[in-house]
Amino acid sequence: MKDFISIKDLTKEEILEVLEVASELSQKPKPELAKGKIVGSLFFEPSTRTRLSFTSAAYRMGAQVLGFDSPDATSLKKGESLRDTIKMVEAYSDVIVMRHYIEGSAKFASEISNNPIINAGDGANEHPSQTLLDLFTIKKELGRIENMKIAFVGDLKYGRTVHSLTKALEMFNGEFYFIAPDSIQIPEYITKELDQKGMKYHICSEYEPILKEIDVLYMTRIQRERFDDIEEYNKVSGVYKISKDTILGKCQEHMIILHPLPRVDEINIDLDDTKHALYFKQAANGVPTREAMYALAMGLKASKASKKVEN
Ligand code: CP
Repeated sequence: MKDFISIKDLTKEEILEVLEVASELSQKPKPELAKGKIVGSLFFEPSTRTRLSFTSAAYRMGAQVLGFDSPDATSLKKGESLRDTIKMVEAYSDVIVMRHYIEGSAKFASEISNNPIINAGDGANEHPSQTLLDLFTIKKELGRIENMKIAFVGDLKYGRTVHSLTKALEMFNGEFYFIAPDSIQIPEYITKELDQKGMKYHICSEYEPILKEIDVLYMTRIQRERFDDIEEYNKVSGVYKISKDTILGKCQEHMIILHPLPRVDEINIDLDDTKHALYFKQAANGVPTREAMYALAMGLKASKASKKVEN
């Protein structure tokens, strides 16, 4: 049984194992693999992709899902604590998927619950299941995840997907371009870690000059809901917008554009039908990736190739 709280809880080998199992499940579904299991799905923050793809993954493996997509219809409204809510859902389920607005909430849940906890996003901290599907997409499209040159563009301060993917690609010798206005640049604790490990990274404010360098352009939304001061948001809103005009002929032929979605105005829809645009395939890859996470979390035998996933 395994929690997924931070991507750093996984070794390089475990990450590769999840990707391998996800690849096998995408080619050869196992509709009875999780028969009899119940997923507790606790979403304290809005979600489209993460909640629905975790639900779809459960159904495709034969599991059932209970839970909520907003705390408004639960006894939290009557003053029940998060601790007691977790204890209750532990009793009703076999694995808990949780998104919460407080950083560290998934770790807190893992200390209370004997069920495996899968972090579906804790505030601005981490989003490990997004990272695994990002890595799955990169490997599938570019054939490797080692030595990747990746540019993160947009809200790097609050972007939990950026934090988790940087930590993962550190393990695979990535080179990073962090492109953001100063007020929402990548947190110092991440660059300090890169410094300690001697990793290559670049702090930039424009993406155009480095398009010919990179394998992956990872766009992000400026997250209005995370700003305390709306004036600060207004200063950076709409600062990066890519379109056919700004990308085509200006990047490497193989460069892929990823985005965890939802997008607002940072990727023009005219890019959607180009070969570079991978963000919808990326979101679809969430289903097999999350099936593989369930298998590892609940100790289900998903794959002959799997070394750690036992019956
Ligand atoms: N990528 C992602 O976390 O999307 P949702 O917020 O829609 O789940």
